[in-house]
Amino acid sequence: MIMSQTTYVTEQQMFLDVIKERRSVRTYDPTVQISREEMTEILELATLAPSSSNLQPWRFLVIDKPELKERLLPIAFNQQQVVEASAVIAVLGDVESYKKSEKIYTQAVDAGFMPEDTAKSFIERTVGMYSSLPPEVARQIVYTDGGLISMQLMLVARAKGYDTVPMGGYDKAKFVEAFEVSEKYVPVMLIAIGKAGKPGHPTTRLPIEDVAFFNEMPSE
Ligand SMILES: Cc1cc2nc3c(=O)[nH]c(=O)nc-3n(C[C@H](O)[C@H](O)[C@H](O)COP(=O)(O)O)c2cc1C
Repeated sequence: MIMSQTTYVTEQQMFLDVIKERRSVRTYDPTVQISREEMTEILELATLAPSSSNLQPWRFLVIDKPELKERLLPIAFNQQQVVEASAVIAVLGDVESYKKSEKIYTQAVDAGFMPEDTAKSFIERTVGMYSSLPPEVARQIVYTDGGLISMQLMLVARAKGYDTVPMGGYDKAKFVEAFEVSEKYVPVMLIAIGKAGKPGHPTTRLPIEDVAFFNEMPSE
């Protein structure tokens, strides 16, 4: 009992350290490569993130070929991390992810997590609702889920000894064109990933009383 308590405290501390140690890193060691296997593992762990109706609308375009990183460089306003990092992961949101609901809920049935008839009605409801959403609402949903997956990806990367920087500073229209991304995929952000050449600089946060309120929002 005491042992497991100790283990839990240690694991909690390790998790908090990962959160505290993550910083946006903008200078990378260009010699570091991340293997397909390790990148896949990082992405798999990231996909344990929650999503609206578990539709998992995130899609990743992992750009690790030098010539493609060079192509991305001007699109990302010449931010050097694009070419120096081991890879740049474009996080995209699929506004037609409801088309996978049958697969998703069938998996849940096969895993014994859901009775078949419940899954059937979930599929019907999900397809009905998500296929008729106004485009702007569908986009907002994938942006929200895309933010959650991105954060989780960056924390998993840190836990595995890698550094990241999330990037919104790129020309989305040019990105979509250059990488021939179908219209159903909404670009959420780019995440450069690799090992720091120079540590990220520390940043501050607003005091918690400026951002958190209990039970009532301030009038301004
Ligand atoms: C959506 C988003 C877009 C960002 N875009 C860029 C970017 O284009 N280039 C960059 O160097 N940093 C970018 N950042 C990183 C922020 O500047 C950084 O997270 C913030 O200054 C806090 O620092 P920290 O991440 O080290 O805690 C972005 C962060 C977020 C969340």
